[in-house]
Amino acid sequence: MTAVWSFPTRVLFGEGTAAKIGEEVRSVGGSRALVVTDEGVAAAGLVETVTDALDAAGVEHETFSGISSNPLETEVLSAVDAFRNASADIVVAIGGGSALDVGKLVRVGAHHPLPLAQYDDAEGGGSKITGELPPMVALPTTAGTGSEVGRSGVLTLQSTNRKTVIFSPRLIPDVAILDPKLTVTMPPRTTAATGMDALTHCIEAYCALGDHPMADAIAVAGISLIVDHLETAVHDGGDIAARGAMLKAAAMGAVAFQKGLGACHALAHPLSAEHGLHHGLANALCLPAVLDFNRIAVPEKIAKVARLLGARGEDTETLAFECSGAVRALRKKIGLPEGLEAAQVDEQNLPALAELAMEDVSHRLNPRPCTLEDMLSLYRSSM
Ligand SMILES: NC(=O)c1ccc[n+]([C@@H]2O[C@H](COP(=O)([O-])OP(=O)(O)OC[C@H]3O[C@@H](n4cnc5c(N)ncnc54)[C@H](O)[C@@H]3O)[C@@H](O)[C@H]2O)c1
Ligand SMILES: [Fe+2]
Repeated sequence: MTAVWSFPTRVLFGEGTAAKIGEEVRSVGGSRALVVTDEGVAAAGLVETVTDALDAAGVEHETFSGISSNPLETEVLSAVDAFRNASADIVVAIGGGSALDVGKLVRVGAHHPLPLAQYDDAEGGGSKITGELPPMVALPTTAGTGSEVGRSGVLTLQSTNRKTVIFSPRLIPDVAILDPKLTVTMPPRTTAATGMDALTHCIEAYCALGDHPMADAIAVAGISLIVDHLETAVHDGGDIAARGAMLKAAAMGAVAFQKGLGACHALAHPLSAEHGLHHGLANALCLPAVLDFNRIAVPEKIAKVARLLGARGEDTETLAFECSGAVRALRKKIGLPEGLEAAQVDEQNLPALAELAMEDVSHRLNPRPCTLEDMLSLYRSSM
């Protein structure tokens, strides 16, 4: 069997680096940009940083901001129309995972036949992404999804109301610009939830099936950055060093999860599609139960994660046992709810959610196989 390890993105990191967007756009051949963002990011005054720099570089641009958190297919289609109407030749996406993912899907929609449902990863749809893709530069304003270095775009399809992953290595943006200043306006709750998404990526990637020592090493380093900096980023949002460390960790999590994710993401996706929970929050609420569930499959790995999170224990078994508690403690310190009940998810909805979680591709590489009953009991343990 052959393992494939790729780390291809050009990444610029540093305070004020967003000002380099014009030259980066030019260097990948762009001259007319569609700037893809959302209303929250626009209201935080972040889009001007990009459009001013594009103006300075003589790059024409139009802005599309009609995106909600957990983007919908209709929103992606409107963004594709905006790309075509602007005669754009490059996508510049600035925002959280929602804006970045829509930016990636605009690249697909620009020159590929619609509907987008035919590119669903669960159906092997990525192999149909063979046509021209306009280049893309991504500027994350949250530190969670790592979509700026990732190969997927996530949207909720109209026909199924399911959160659906469209996946192709070709979707990786040409350039990612990580400027900590762009994340300073992120409110504490979003900082906490997106940070827990990054943590979940690192932990699930590290524990996922497969032989990928480079992804494992990056995941472990990402966990350490999050342990050292997430609390500061939440409680002192202006701390540029903490913001920068979280941006690095988020990108590292996404690089690492090219190896695979796990049951936590499978449980999280229906919570967003059906109950509108923020993706990072959904992960934060399900992660402890998944760690306990996976403990018998990968005890050494879970013990190592526990040690990184500051848990103590003499032996592997004790440490692995402490891991879920360490995640709960971190979750509490950063002000997130204690369980699904506190996030207004009703017990009677859990069986239907469990069926959806079973259908989600994310759990295929979970280190312990999951049945429908397992999914239901993981949700129950997360209440
Ligand atoms: N592509 C991937 O690999 C991947 C991985 C994980 C999650 N996702 C997807 O990404 C989406 C979630 O992305 P997210 O967690 O980054 O949240 P988000 O993009 O939905 O943003 C959350 C909210 O924060 C606001 N916001 C963002 N940055 C801000 C800033 N700097 N200042 C003020 N407000 C700001 C936004 O306007 C929005 O209201 C979900 O749809 C999820 O499924 C994708
Ligand atoms: Fe995620």
